[in-house]
Amino acid sequence: MKPIIVALFLGLLLFSSGCIQPEKAPVVAERTATEEWKADGIVGDSEYSRSMLLQAPARQGYSGGEMQISWKNDPEYLYLALNGSTDGWLAIGFEPQEWMKNADIILASVQGGKATVLDEYCTGNYGPHIEDTLLGGTNDIAEFGGSKGSGRTVIELKRKLNTGDKFDKAFSPGQTISIIWALSQNQELSLKHNVAYGEGVMTLTRMS
Ligand code: HEM
Repeated sequence: MKPIIVALFLGLLLFSSGCIQPEKAPVVAERTATEEWKADGIVGDSEYSRSMLLQAPARQGYSGGEMQISWKNDPEYLYLALNGSTDGWLAIGFEPQEWMKNADIILASVQGGKATVLDEYCTGNYGPHIEDTLLGGTNDIAEFGGSKGSGRTVIELKRKLNTGDKFDKAFSPGQTISIIWALSQNQELSLKHNVAYGEGVMTLTRMS
């Protein structure tokens, strides 16, 4: 048998065995956000207009986990909720150039009932990510809050779509934004992710 036919046959066998599966894009649920937005660490049923579940399986160095992202925007602000399967830190990064590099990162955790939300920027492929203020930028998380319980951490925050800081990606209504995300069981924000990480896209609502 010709090598190309053998390779095709083996590929088909591997695919049908379930070892290789096409990646499924997460489903984005849409609704009308009628509820008043509050940074209280409780994601209301109608507080955000879109949400999706990002998941990553267990593998070497990672226990596996998921993060529900909910968001909405008005002409000026992005409102965001991150609900992750961790007691440690959780993070979202906007528009990385490659891997983690040049991502506009929001890194957060809740400890002792108090939420910490950092406005950061990643300068290298795998870090370091540093607070914008230490790079000469500004802290542009306008409001935030969070909660923790039953193995989950929830963070809610708002920031301007266009903060004017060069260490924040500027967004506009209707834009599709590429994102990365990560979860860690570590409370210490400088320690690497060990639950899950991944990527995705989120689209902002167009304003007429
Ligand atoms: C806290 C300090 C962090 C360190 C030391 C770190 C380090 C690393 C390293 C070494 C890798 C290579 C893969 C691996 O070893 O498992 C990696 C990959 C990755 N990290 Fe981080 N990371 C950190 C925080 C973050 C944050 C906050 C995010 C999300 C906003 C993130 C998102 C990712 C993603 C998406 C990848 C995969 C990149 C790819 O291969 O395409 N990391 N990180």
